[in-house]
Amino acid sequence: MTVLVTGGAGYIGSHMVLDLMKTGEEIVVLDDFSTGFPGLVPAGVRVVEGDIGNRKLLERLIPDYRIDAIAHFAAKIVVPESVEKPLFYYDNNTSRARTLIEAAVNGGVKHFIFSSTAAVYGNAETMPVTEETPPNPVSPYGRSKLMVEWMLEDARVAYGVEPMILRYFNVAGADPLCRSGQATPRATHLIKTAVEAAVGKRAGMSIFGTDYPTADGTCVRDYIHVSDLARAHVLALDYLRKGGKGQVLNCAYGHGSSVSEVIETVRKVSGVNFNVETAPRRAGDPAEIVATGEKIRSVLGWEPQYDDLETIVTHALAWERKLMDQSRQADARAALATV
Ligand code: UFG
Repeated sequence: MTVLVTGGAGYIGSHMVLDLMKTGEEIVVLDDFSTGFPGLVPAGVRVVEGDIGNRKLLERLIPDYRIDAIAHFAAKIVVPESVEKPLFYYDNNTSRARTLIEAAVNGGVKHFIFSSTAAVYGNAETMPVTEETPPNPVSPYGRSKLMVEWMLEDARVAYGVEPMILRYFNVAGADPLCRSGQATPRATHLIKTAVEAAVGKRAGMSIFGTDYPTADGTCVRDYIHVSDLARAHVLALDYLRKGGKGQVLNCAYGHGSSVSEVIETVRKVSGVNFNVETAPRRAGDPAEIVATGEKIRSVLGWEPQYDDLETIVTHALAWERKLMDQSRQADARAALATV
């Protein structure tokens, strides 16, 4: 039995690979390296470079590697970019996922873990949200993922695929042993941006909107540590393989932090009082998204280990410093080579 991890060279996928390796699981990573990095895939893991929309490749890969489960991470994930380029998102996240689901059906793969998102809820009327809260995405990104959820639910009825739909809230932090983390250039996510400002990679940062109907006027999100999220995937895989029923699960801790609180935490943990400006609201941002986070605990027995904003920031900062050191060393090597 082998797990196909699409996007396994990316931020969250690579953390699932690290967790799967603990139990000696057979793994194949499929990644086109458009946003992933070969260096994030642990040594010894098989990697196929390719596109999830490449039907011929999938038809070969599934039987060749005896794939019994797919964890599908490969996607574009930047909300404001999806507002600017909706068709790009519907192609990448929706059309290509359809091809992957079809290949799973044709190849007899029954277990399918899908990276969905809190963005499917949009501006929910009641907070915190539960899995019963009606989806109402306000961005093309959220819609591009919700359509895949629907395809999977239909595929279950028609073909017996068992999909576990994991709706991620705001994923942040890095592997506590610093083996992986978020490496995206020109990152837009809040904690990544703030730790970049703390290590001096950027001159400062902006708060997008201070006039939201929240306690301090800035947006509120349920930040969850990437290693806890990876664990949820491994538990979901085990659950499906034991005959558990696929379902929608929110991946969240059940409490939120505001943009201002996050920035203050990064300043405190780093000891750097980096520059912060206020800026207008960003397109597509809901004021608040927080979940109860109860169902995933009861269904999968998920016990988060890093439910603490300071811990998340500490790990994100350690990873950012590692990236800085690596880039300084690369610059030094390049300078020596030109002497
Ligand atoms: N923000 C700033 N300044 C920045 C970056 C972000 O103020 O430099 C604010 C945003 O405006 C937003 C909050 O910080 O209010 C969080 O923004 P992120 O970009 O970190 O995350 P999003 O909430 O937009 O989206 C993320 C993921 C999605 C996921 C969603 C679920 O990118 O995949 O969380 O809530 F769907």
